[in-house]
Amino acid sequence: MAIERTLSIIKPDATRRNLTGKVNAMLEAGGLRIVAQKRLLLTRAQAESFYAVHKERPFFDDLCTFMTSGPVVVQVLEGENAVAKNREIMGATDPSKAAEGTIRKTYAESIESNSAHGSDSLENAAIEIAYFFSATAIVG
Ligand code: RTP
Ligand code: MG
Repeated sequence: MAIERTLSIIKPDATRRNLTGKVNAMLEAGGLRIVAQKRLLLTRAQAESFYAVHKERPFFDDLCTFMTSGPVVVQVLEGENAVAKNREIMGATDPSKAAEGTIRKTYAESIESNSAHGSDSLENAAIEIAYFFSATAIVG
C-alpha cells in the first residue's frame, strides 16, 4: 500500500454544531494524519469551481448554497491508501445508507448536509489539494 494524500472538508452543518474536533478524532482513529488544515468561508465562486464536476446535476445550486452557508474546515489527510480510507471513514453520501461508526452515519443531517467531503480519486485529490494549499503549507 502506498502513502497517499487526500483532501477533506468538514462541511458547514458540522462546523455549525461544533463537531470539528469529533470529526478529526474519527479521522485520526482511522489512521489518517491531518498534515494541513484551515477554516474558511467559501465564496460562491469557490464553491461553484470546486464542485464544477456537478454543475449539470439538479442539486448543484443547493449544494453551492449549502457549502457557502457557514465556515468549512479544509484539510489534507495523509496515510496508507488515504483516498479510499477517508471515504471509508466518511461513509456513503446518503447517511441512511452509511455504515455504523462512519462520520456520515454518526453526524450527517441529510444527503446534502452530510458533514464531510473526501476526494474520490488520487488524481482528483492532487487537484483539490492544490486548490486550497501551497506545497509549503503541508507539513507531513
Ligand atoms: P463529496 O464529493 O462531498 O465527498 O461527496 P460524495 O463524493 O459522497 O458525493 P457526490 O456525488 O460527489 O456529491 C457531492 C455532494 O453533493 C451533495 N449531494 N446532494 N440532494 C442530493 O441528491 C445530493 N446528492 C449529492 C452532497 O453534499 C454530496 O456530498
Ligand atoms: Mg464527490
